[in-house]
Amino acid sequence: MTDSNLAKLNVLMCGAGEYTTGYTLAGAASKSDKKVVALTLFDLRRRGKVNWLGIAGKIGPRFPDIRKHLDENIGKVYKDMDTSFDNFPQPPIIDGDAYKTAMNGMKPGDAVIIFTPDPTHYPIALYAIQHHLHVLVTKPATKLLAHHQDLIEQAAKYNVLCFVEHHKRFDSVYGDARAKAATLGEFSYFTAYMSQPKMQLETFKAWAGKDSDISYYLSSHHIDISCWILQGKAVPTRVTACASKGIATSPEIGCDPKTEDTITLLVEWQSLLHPGTHRGTAVYTASWVAPLRSGVHSDQRWYYMGEKGDITVDQAHRGYDVTYDETGKSWINPFYMKYSPSETGHFDGQNGYGYLSIEKFIDAARAVNAGQHVPSEYDSFGLPTIRNTVLTTAILEAGRISLDEHRPVEIKRDGEKWKLV
Ligand SMILES: NC(=O)c1ccc[n+]([C@@H]2O[C@H](COP(=O)([O-])OP(=O)(O)OC[C@H]3O[C@@H](n4cnc5c(N)ncnc54)[C@H](O)[C@@H]3O)[C@@H](O)[C@H]2O)c1
Repeated sequence: MTDSNLAKLNVLMCGAGEYTTGYTLAGAASKSDKKVVALTLFDLRRRGKVNWLGIAGKIGPRFPDIRKHLDENIGKVYKDMDTSFDNFPQPPIIDGDAYKTAMNGMKPGDAVIIFTPDPTHYPIALYAIQHHLHVLVTKPATKLLAHHQDLIEQAAKYNVLCFVEHHKRFDSVYGDARAKAATLGEFSYFTAYMSQPKMQLETFKAWAGKDSDISYYLSSHHIDISCWILQGKAVPTRVTACASKGIATSPEIGCDPKTEDTITLLVEWQSLLHPGTHRGTAVYTASWVAPLRSGVHSDQRWYYMGEKGDITVDQAHRGYDVTYDETGKSWINPFYMKYSPSETGHFDGQNGYGYLSIEKFIDAARAVNAGQHVPSEYDSFGLPTIRNTVLTTAILEAGRISLDEHRPVEIKRDGEKWKLV
């Protein structure tokens, strides 16, 4: 069966915020204007892969402004782009359970894409799985290892896909670097740094330090990349975390008193190839108090050292910068989302890894619905399935415990599962 003969997929987007619509909780169009999920799904509908679209948020009265924002920034920018969708809840209702109403109206094999606050990922994903819906959940998949492992079990039980939206795996630099790392023998050392400018805390202060932290928010990306590189080669065994404080909580920024500025996790990795002799270490640092006007929205770089060589990746500076008189120089990354239209005026970003990450999930769900694959096969394809990403959550939760309890935390096997000690 060719791709175009597969049934189109009905998709519910959960969350109506920055990553989904480009519209922020502050009530104004996001300055970073990501709008990744809705834009990608509108384009996939134009290309015949998607049928019905819904958005389940929490605040019904916000939807008229969201529609206007999507029409102005997508509908009027790209040719043939239909930006219509059903919304849940209806104005004037405010309802954190509106996703349940939406999912109750869906049929088995439909799909859900979750970009909501971190603590809500688990209950929303669980509800979807138990309604026989395929799930793509943003990072961090869950905050707790126990919840992550429950989603693995539930997805297997209900025989649906559950992927984590780790889009960096679809960046061709990262994919190629992983293949190169596989040729470098034993793992020795990995370090990653990722940051956002402190003005982002204006948007994030509603939840920063309360619902989640900067390690969950940003280090989740490169922890996942190192887990992907080291899959079958080494396992994390011990996490020690430390954090700096004082800037996010300053009167000028005003975040919750518990908010850390920069979090570093030091992780020991035990070789699976030569467990008696080889061990590696990794250092993951994430900050949301980085300087303004640095030319990039998110600094992101990593280094991998193996037995026979090393790899350096600077994902923020791609050899392409633009300077405006008013704002100075900025480094652009169209390999993630390319917003400039094609020569025909259509959306032209189908090769961006932000787009591909969603399209691969849509393709997988359609293939499963058509009986071409079973969900468990996707674990062996090296994709970020819920099963393949369990150690990412183990490291993140161990880091949080280490910060809260001022002690190292061990990651141990517990039969088929993992536990933190
Ligand atoms: N992959 C990435 O690069 C990336 C980038 C940004 C954000 N994220 C993740 O996406 C999630 C959301 O991020 P964002 O920047 O869009 O946040 P945001 O604060 O702009 O939006 C969150 C949205 O979720 C809605 N919401 C809250 N509770 C809900 C509920 N119970 N049901 C349905 N909707 C609910 C809010 O009303 C809001 O529309 C976070 O987990 C974040 O870590 C991922």
